[in-house]
Amino acid sequence: MQIDYKKYPTPRMRHHTASNLYVPYENFKVLPNYYPPVQTELDWSLYFANGKPPQALDIGCGRGGFLLEYAMLNSETNVFGLEVRKQAVDWIDEIIIGEAIKNAAVMWYNSSNKLQFIQSESLHSAFYFFPDPWHKQKHRKRRAFNQTLLRELYRTLCTNATLYLMTDVPEVDSYQQEMLSLHDGFDFKYATDDEWNLPRTDHENFSLKKGIPYIRAIVRKKAKSI
Ligand SMILES: C[S@@+](CC[C@H](N)C(=O)[O-])C[C@H]1O[C@@H](n2cnc3c(N)ncnc32)[C@H](O)[C@@H]1O
Repeated sequence: MQIDYKKYPTPRMRHHTASNLYVPYENFKVLPNYYPPVQTELDWSLYFANGKPPQALDIGCGRGGFLLEYAMLNSETNVFGLEVRKQAVDWIDEIIIGEAIKNAAVMWYNSSNKLQFIQSESLHSAFYFFPDPWHKQKHRKRRAFNQTLLRELYRTLCTNATLYLMTDVPEVDSYQQEMLSLHDGFDFKYATDDEWNLPRTDHENFSLKKGIPYIRAIVRKKAKSI
C-alpha cells in the first residue's frame, strides 16, 4: 500500500516548538497550559485496532514517514510514535485515519518525560532517528537522550531487543555513545547497510538528497546479570 500524500497537504511547521516543551515536567512549579500532557497509563484500545500495547516505539517521529511505512510493512506490530510538535502529531493522525492504518498511532508527548505508559519488557524495537542536535551548550539540556530515557528504554525493551539510532551529526553520535556507556545495559555497534532492514525516515531522505553522510547504529539491550 502506498500513501497518496497529495490527499494530506503538509501543514507549515517550524523546526522547533516552544522551548518550554522540551523541559521535563518535574522542572516546572506550574505546567504551562500548552505543555504536552504527561501520561502515566494509556488505554491501548483507543490507539490500536487490536487494543494491544505497542511493540515498537518511534521517539521523535517528526512527520511520521518512517512510522507509517514501518507500520504498513509490519502489520502484526503495533508501532507508537512520540512527537513534541503538536501540528506534526495532528497531521500524522489525519493520515492514519484517512488510510485506516490500524497498527500505527502517535501521541503528542515530550519524551524527556518518563515512559510509564509503556509496559516493562514489551518492546522489541525502539527508534531514535535524527534527534534535534541542540549544538549550543546552553541548549544541550534539551537533548532527550539522557539517563532517564535510557533507564526507561532498558525497562521497556525485551532482552536482546534493539534500539536503532541514526544521526547526521558526529558529535551527537559521540554524545549518545557516552550516555550508553554510562548506563552499561546496552551493547553498541555501528550498522552496515545489509544489517539495516528498515524503511527510510523523512530526515534520512533529506540527508540523502543533500549528500549529507549519516551514522547508523544498532544497540542491543543486554541480558540482566544474575
Ligand atoms: C530532525 S527531526 C527527525 C524526525 C524523524 N525521526 C526522522 O528521522 O525523519 C527530530 C524530531 O524530534 C522531535 N523531538 C525533539 N525533541 C523531542 C522530545 N523531547 N519529545 C518528542 N519529540 C521530540 C522534533 O520535534 C522533531 O520532529
